[in-house]
Amino acid sequence: MAFPTAMAAVAVALCAAFALAALGGAEAQQLSPAYYDDSCPHVYDTVRRVIQEARASDPRILASLLRLHFHDCFVNGCDASLLLDETPTMRSEKEANPNKGSARGFPVVDDIKAALENACPGVVSCADVLALAAEVSVELAGGPYWRVMLGRTDGMAANFDGAQNLPNPTEPLNDLKQKFADLGLDDTDFVALQGAHTIGRAQCRFFQDRLYNFSDTERSDPTLDRSYLAALRESCPAAVSDNTCLNNLDPATPDTFDNRYYANILSNRGLLRSDQAMLSAPEEGAVSTAPIVGRFANSQVEFFQSFATAMVKMGNIAPMTGGLREVRRNCRVVN
Ligand code: HEM
Repeated sequence: MAFPTAMAAVAVALCAAFALAALGGAEAQQLSPAYYDDSCPHVYDTVRRVIQEARASDPRILASLLRLHFHDCFVNGCDASLLLDETPTMRSEKEANPNKGSARGFPVVDDIKAALENACPGVVSCADVLALAAEVSVELAGGPYWRVMLGRTDGMAANFDGAQNLPNPTEPLNDLKQKFADLGLDDTDFVALQGAHTIGRAQCRFFQDRLYNFSDTERSDPTLDRSYLAALRESCPAAVSDNTCLNNLDPATPDTFDNRYYANILSNRGLLRSDQAMLSAPEEGAVSTAPIVGRFANSQVEFFQSFATAMVKMGNIAPMTGGLREVRRNCRVVN
């Protein structure tokens, strides 16, 4: 079903204003969709072109780029701190557990940035590149459109410890919801943003305990559908600790951005514990998330609207530290 663009734009604009107000403790950013209209008018088309090219040889890149924006915004706000490489004096966020051997797409970010530096040198921040790449990726995968707020600056330091604390799929649902709430994202945003798992892959190590030794019971997770469990065990044998095998986060429509992810959860086919917990862990607060899972499973329009709204709110998470900021020329190093 087509996404009602005008309605979404209104909702998104309202929520952007709300998100800025909600994050009063952080450094305020004056973001606007028109930020580069004069200084780099073809920014959106350039980002889209480079991603289209990358996608031809790597269909998964759309999912990987979407995830980078999330991992950037949840650590120090959306400031591209994730993109900084390790130096002798600074640990890179890329080396933190949730990212190491997992976060991918950095060379494509480099390609986007190089194309933008060529067209308008020193103008477009790396944090804005990640925000734009996330929107373009969702749209190319068949998901909603939203007007990306722009005008972020890049931070000058990585936060390794912050990245270690990124949401982990084995954490209790209450703790995960709290991590989102701490950043101004409510339960509807939380459930909607998890819907990003409608595309992309996960390595066995992130859910293997569910297959063989859930909560140290030496049994599988009882909330996992039996035939899905059998298929996952075949894909991730108990004895194998190699993480090259990839599994679709959405086993029904793995590369299409749609609401099937929620229908999967309703039939006990959420891949990560954190996916399924939104329905199946009432003792951890699923009472508030389960009805939202049901609503999004029933209405792709409602999911798309909520996802777009939540992405704008997430993109508004402002850097928590004032002071040194810049537009990086190379996203991997400070100028
Ligand atoms: C409770 C919160 C979340 C947890 C615990 C979580 C956890 C994970 C894990 C473990 C993976 C698999 C990584 C791998 O195997 O290398 C993954 C993949 C992914 N996540 Fe999340 N995630 C969360 C929220 C989000 C949000 C908010 C977004 C974006 C808005 C997102 C987007 C993605 C995407 C697109 C992938 C696939 C990436 C790829 O294929 O390269 N996730 N997530």
